[in-house]
Amino acid sequence: QKEGYPHYMIKEIHEQPQALVRTIEPRINPDNLPDFSADGIPDSFFENCSDITVVACGTALYAGMAGKNMIQNVLGIPVSVAIASEFRYERPVINENSMVIVTSQSGETIDTLEALRLARQYTHKTLAIVNVKGSSIARESDQVLYTHAGPEIAVASTKAYSVQVASFYLLAAKIGLVQGKMTKKEAQNFLATLKEMPGRIETVLSHEKRIQDLTDRFTNVPNAFYIGRGLDYRVAMEAALKLKEISYIHAEAYAAGELKHGTISLIDDGVPVIALATQHKVYSKVISNIRETKARGAYVILISEDKKITDPTICDVHFSIPKVDDIFSVFESIVICQLIGYYTSVNKGINPDQPRNLAKSVTVE
Ligand code: F6R
Repeated sequence: QKEGYPHYMIKEIHEQPQALVRTIEPRINPDNLPDFSADGIPDSFFENCSDITVVACGTALYAGMAGKNMIQNVLGIPVSVAIASEFRYERPVINENSMVIVTSQSGETIDTLEALRLARQYTHKTLAIVNVKGSSIARESDQVLYTHAGPEIAVASTKAYSVQVASFYLLAAKIGLVQGKMTKKEAQNFLATLKEMPGRIETVLSHEKRIQDLTDRFTNVPNAFYIGRGLDYRVAMEAALKLKEISYIHAEAYAAGELKHGTISLIDDGVPVIALATQHKVYSKVISNIRETKARGAYVILISEDKKITDPTICDVHFSIPKVDDIFSVFESIVICQLIGYYTSVNKGINPDQPRNLAKSVTVE
């Protein structure tokens, strides 16, 4: 069933445009407005929602981090993101007006399921973003948004991340409209941009060979850093997880502005730094952080909207993504990073579909 691909992971990376279409299109009506009627979620569910808590594990948690950054910036609603295995043993600071969004590809992750059960003692505004139909989390939550990504077989999650992130964007448009935090026109423009993402990912995938070539350099490195600010920092978290879980390289995501508070001491000759600089309002800040790492010998791979970088003091390799609003760059940046993870794993002779010590679904504590 790998359909000619050597691994499920690369097949699933390539399935992302279609998976996104399946998640997005049924939730946008002919007037280009968000529509969850087929999911059976009434608009009233989104009224009086004062705050949001996202609870998840691993990649689903990082999708929530991206969702938090976007929702807070677009709607101004407070969003917290909780690790399910922490949330379930702490005192939840939520009430009946809090929305709790549990996010899980499998719908069976035990910590996320237990966190949902706890949350339901406080609020009936629980919503599950789930891929697997009829799974425990889907059955037990008040509302479900299925991501329709199709089966994800590879242990390292790829398409599930993209569709989870897209689900947060659909929810943001709905909450924004219902609560009067977005005008109709704004919601339409927002969703029109979301609809462009599958096509933009296709373009990223057409540059796969260049990304593959660059990973030759990673085969023997023990450490790597992903840096960025704002949404880029959240993408960096998922990017670092992708590299470490399948290539066994220790990878850290760092908020670029935090480097000088400690981590920069780890930057030495040849240490790979993958720098994401897609956020316009902090672009110059990130570039100066990158220069600091370059000055200490880092091998810098820059992902940005610049058409070309001619100054060799900024980076060693540059990936350009087409211009897009700050909050939408996540969809393209993460695909570049998934490919970096995948090809690094393959170069090292590891089977990316079955990394050591990991299971696809974590149903035991
Ligand atoms: C990483 C990965 C895991 C899962 C995590 C949660 O690539 O796949 O971190 O994201 O175990 O799994 P679900 O989403 O099934 O709850």
